Amino acid sequence: MNKIIIAIDGFSSTGKSTVAKQLAKRFNYIYVDTGAMYRAVTYFALENELIGADFFDEKALIHRLGDISITFKFNEVAGFAEVYLNGKNIEAAIRTLRVSKYVSPVATLSAVRRKLVEQQQLMGKDKGIVMDGRDIGTVVFPDAELKIFMTASAETRAKRRYKELLDRGHNLSYDDVLENVTTRDRIDSTREDSPLVKAADAIEIDNSDLTIEEQLETLTGLAKELIRY
Ligand code: DC
Repeated sequence: MNKIIIAIDGFSSTGKSTVAKQLAKRFNYIYVDTGAMYRAVTYFALENELIGADFFDEKALIHRLGDISITFKFNEVAGFAEVYLNGKNIEAAIRTLRVSKYVSPVATLSAVRRKLVEQQQLMGKDKGIVMDGRDIGTVVFPDAELKIFMTASAETRAKRRYKELLDRGHNLSYDDVLENVTTRDRIDSTREDSPLVKAADAIEIDNSDLTIEEQLETLTGLAKELIRY
């Protein structure tokens, strides 16, 4: 059976990772959440006071990139690979609005992108991988066999993210979440290096009115057409 690369790109909070994770499980593929990697670098910058409300020491962060080691380790209970920064599990710590607020500026830095893209390409060298992010079908794996571009309205996405954060016990307002979603959309799609754009050969799926099961069925069907048994 041949293995393929499935690249899933799209705006923030489109529910890419939920579907990507389940799709990977279905095919027994590796799943990589590249947003988690950009969040890990952001977490490092926040912990080391290189970024904050009114400052961003880009040079210092670039200088310290060599001190950042990002790894994934499968958690049997959770059923997916969690992200580690220098050996410390930061899976929950990177899912806060604080990290979401600073991640887009960090992701504009070419030096950061080069480091992470290199690691992502290595992880996919044997194929059999589902990777989600912003530039997977355009930059990381331009030859991926299956490319998906997920969209949904900003309000739909903010509502989903708001509910998710409330469920996790975070105390915040819907307006703050909507503001974060639209600001990230703007920065992610207008940055100079690897902006979020739909690859010419990507299949666009608007999932505003689709359940996770419906999305999973569609993607499974598309992948099966490309896998020879
Ligand atoms: O998927 P996410 O919301 O966890 O991603 C967090 C941020 O990381 C997103 O706002 C932009 C950046 N990102 C990126 O620039 N390239 C990727 N491949 C993945 C994420």
